[in-house]
Amino acid sequence: MVQIFLDTASLPEIEEFVRWGIVDGVTTNQKIFLSEGGVDFKQRVLDICDLVNGPISVETTKSTVPDLVAEGKDYASWHKNVVVKVAMYGDGRGLEVVSRLTSAGIKTNMTVMMSYNQLVLAAKAGATYVSLFYNRSKEAGENPLQIIKDYVAIAKEFGLKGRLIVGSIRTPEDVAVSMAAGAHILTVPTKILRQMPQNKRSDETIAEFDKAWQDFLAIKKQ
Ligand code: E4P
Repeated sequence: MVQIFLDTASLPEIEEFVRWGIVDGVTTNQKIFLSEGGVDFKQRVLDICDLVNGPISVETTKSTVPDLVAEGKDYASWHKNVVVKVAMYGDGRGLEVVSRLTSAGIKTNMTVMMSYNQLVLAAKAGATYVSLFYNRSKEAGENPLQIIKDYVAIAKEFGLKGRLIVGSIRTPEDVAVSMAAGAHILTVPTKILRQMPQNKRSDETIAEFDKAWQDFLAIKKQ
């Protein structure tokens, strides 16, 4: 079954969607933390881990391989569900970091990926999760839907373990087509998730049924 992660670090938002019973994990990044204002970074990660019993991706911020590995090891020591997010740098640095963290038994999410080649390399380096940025990939001239189909197919054929997360979601339609293309996981901003149950025809049908029920009750009273 497709999994849904929340693309947020907001505790009230996470609580809201946990109540819906549809949250399998959480992804964060530097921009998401910026939008949370001056919160304590580590404490917020731990608070999220308390709310969701699933993978919680936390992104590395350093520059060199040793610093990125050390930062990843530090994050992983905070909580068993922390997944270390590492960017796909053009010089292969991130792949080395993922490979080293994987050897140390640490779960990773290789991120900011736009192309099929990047996804395959990340999976080969041992990434637990490989993140395709749906809309940014489209802006880069790629065909993210085809990339999703191709990655899911090669992962199945050769037993690649990296689970495909599709992020950079901007509309409910992005979610629907990515799921239909076979994405293992969607990470969805709460604004988009809130729109997903909405359908004008459902609202009209509920109103029609409510009216029928009132009419039915009125007959019984006569
Ligand atoms: C998730 O892991 C990504 O960080 C996120 O979906 C990026 O989304 P954006 O393109 O809206 O910044």
